[in-house]
Amino acid sequence: MAPLPLKTRRQAPRALLLVMTLLTLCAWPLYAQTVSDTQPEMLPTEPHPKGWWPNEGSAPRDAYTGPAACAPCHPTETAGWRASEMAHALAPAAESRFLRAHPHMSFQRGPYTYRINVEGNQAVYSVTDGSRALSIPLLWAYGTGVVGQAFVFQQNGTYDEAEAAFYPVLGRLDVVAGLERAAPQTLEQAFGLPLIPIAAKQCIACHTTAAVVDGKLQVRSMVQGVTCEACHGPGARHVAEMKKLAGSAQSGETFIFNPARLDPDDLENFCGVCHRTSQRVIQEGLHGLDTVHYEPYRLEMSQCWIMSQRITCITCHNPHEPLQRNPAAYDAACLSCHSGQAKQTAAASASKTCPVATRNCVTCHMPKCRLPLAPFTMSDHFIRIVSPTDACAKSSEGG
Ligand code: HEC
Ligand code: HEC
Ligand code: HEC
Ligand code: HEC
Ligand code: HEC
Ligand code: HEC
Ligand code: HEC
Repeated sequence: MAPLPLKTRRQAPRALLLVMTLLTLCAWPLYAQTVSDTQPEMLPTEPHPKGWWPNEGSAPRDAYTGPAACAPCHPTETAGWRASEMAHALAPAAESRFLRAHPHMSFQRGPYTYRINVEGNQAVYSVTDGSRALSIPLLWAYGTGVVGQAFVFQQNGTYDEAEAAFYPVLGRLDVVAGLERAAPQTLEQAFGLPLIPIAAKQCIACHTTAAVVDGKLQVRSMVQGVTCEACHGPGARHVAEMKKLAGSAQSGETFIFNPARLDPDDLENFCGVCHRTSQRVIQEGLHGLDTVHYEPYRLEMSQCWIMSQRITCITCHNPHEPLQRNPAAYDAACLSCHSGQAKQTAAASASKTCPVATRNCVTCHMPKCRLPLAPFTMSDHFIRIVSPTDACAKSSEGG
């Protein structure tokens, strides 16, 4: 593994969850800036080839219906999506299943004792150095906990990320991924990371729906989680038109966006608005294992992408279902190109077959890598023959 650069706390290029987009902003501010719940600036724009694009945020709030409105006519998509991780990407902290299961957790970091206690309908976060203590109710839990769950609170008009996060692989709280373990100098620094306004906004925009409306961040009107309308665009018009049409012949115009019509490049960038486009990763100057959890960037490094230009996120993932954890479930996707018959058909362009195995392809070709400054591993979407000297293979040794 490449040595990590020497970091100072406020300048730490936080490899992981926090800062994906912050690196372009160079450094953490030395003081917290105020972020209001109604911010006018727009999010940085992403390639925008079609009518709707995630996080675009130009529609008014009343153009959205919320996911319950879709259920009567699309019961299968709705039921599968409800069980998915994206549906639960953000929730009130006190509703966190981890905090509920462990209502009194603590951990030690140098001189500081961190605690999260669930008290009634509040999750109270506190840090003490033995003589002084800081304490505040947490606002939101970010993430269902595939790899972890992080917590955000608000103080003096600023959103802060708690420095304690929950990691299922550890079964306990630990220092939030991306931060050095070493204890900061002051209790205040040990407590929370003030999020600069653009970071706080992006954090909300990627984990919720309709938080940015009329071009402004409107926290109060957001819908928690990545809902139908985060991907399909505002649905009120579609619902109204489909109700009118019920029973009669379809007109053709559906008044809702279907990403199935995007070409592979556009679809990668579509999911990449939140999962990070290659363009974003390059702009941020990230390298090596720091890029592992940016799936579009990693996938686009693969021969499967370069030589086929047809493999996309939805070749393997159905956004209306939970993440599939059984490696064998991905075999059909690999074999749709690598079956040996593929070269005969115009539809698939792979010619190579595996000389080693016929099953569980992803266990060898999409290895799980340990990320820098994180206790967990993530699946590398750079599909390849992994050599024993590979940085990813080494990152997972013994851990
Ligand atoms: C009253 C029933 C009804 C409701 C409510 C409804 N839909 Fe639909 N939806 C339909 C019908 C019918 C079609 C098929 C239209 C066609 O093929 O011409 C459709 C098609 C779609 C499509 C494919 C569109 C295309 O152009 O390919 C998407 C995506 C979709 N709906 C999403 C949603 C979402 C998201 C919601 C909730 C905001 C929703 N629908 C609510 C009836 C409904
Ligand atoms: C509006 C932002 C957004 C868009 C657009 C988006 N995602 Fe996600 N996605 C997320 C967030 C946030 C999570 C993390 C959910 C969690 O675990 O809490 C996630 C999680 C996932 C997961 C589950 C694994 C995990 O770690 O939770 C898969 C698979 C996934 N997304 C695939 C896709 C695909 C495929 C697309 C494009 C069709 C897409 N996503 C588009 C925000 C988005
Ligand atoms: C550009 C969109 C984006 C921004 C900004 C963003 N996230 Fe995420 N987040 C995601 C996606 C997508 C995932 C799914 C896992 C992955 O691909 O890394 C995720 C995953 C996570 C997870 C792990 C979820 C799990 O189930 O294991 C946590 C925790 C998290 N984010 C917290 C945050 C916090 C806190 C912030 C703000 C400081 C933030 N994220 C900012 C898109 C974003
Ligand atoms: C993370 C993005 C994402 C979310 C969230 C999402 N979808 Fe989709 N949806 C897609 C993509 C991509 C496609 C096209 C590929 C496919 O059919 O899987 C699609 C296709 C569809 C279609 C058309 C299916 C067809 O056979 O043509 C319908 C209907 C639909 N979604 C409804 C919903 C509803 C209802 C919800 C919420 C309960 C929802 N979607 C949530 C990304 C998403
Ligand atoms: C859309 C078609 C497609 C899909 C799906 C696909 N691949 Fe590929 N893959 C290719 C093409 C094309 C190549 C270039 C070599 C060739 O023609 O076989 C390739 C190359 C490879 C290589 C050789 C890489 C190298 O550096 O030599 C491996 C290993 C591989 N694929 C494994 C997989 C696995 C495992 C999966 C499923 C997780 C998968 N592929 C899914 C099209 C695909
Ligand atoms: C060739 C198949 C394949 C393709 C294509 C693919 N994925 Fe995955 N993805 C997987 C596998 C396998 C896992 C690991 C599942 C598990 O945890 O066992 C995974 C896991 C994930 C996770 C969970 C976090 C992690 O990395 O462990 C996210 C998020 C995700 N994929 C998003 C995406 C996005 C976004 C795209 C499109 C850029 C994409 N995937 C394309 C096979 C694929
Ligand atoms: C036990 C680990 C393992 C599993 C499981 C596995 N592979 Fe491989 N695969 C390898 C290794 C190692 C090589 C390199 C072999 C060599 O170069 O002699 C390889 C090579 C390949 C190649 C390149 C072949 C070439 O001619 O260059 C492709 C394509 C491939 N695998 C696809 C797959 C697919 C598809 C599956 C699932 C059906 C799969 N692999 C399952 C270990 C595995």
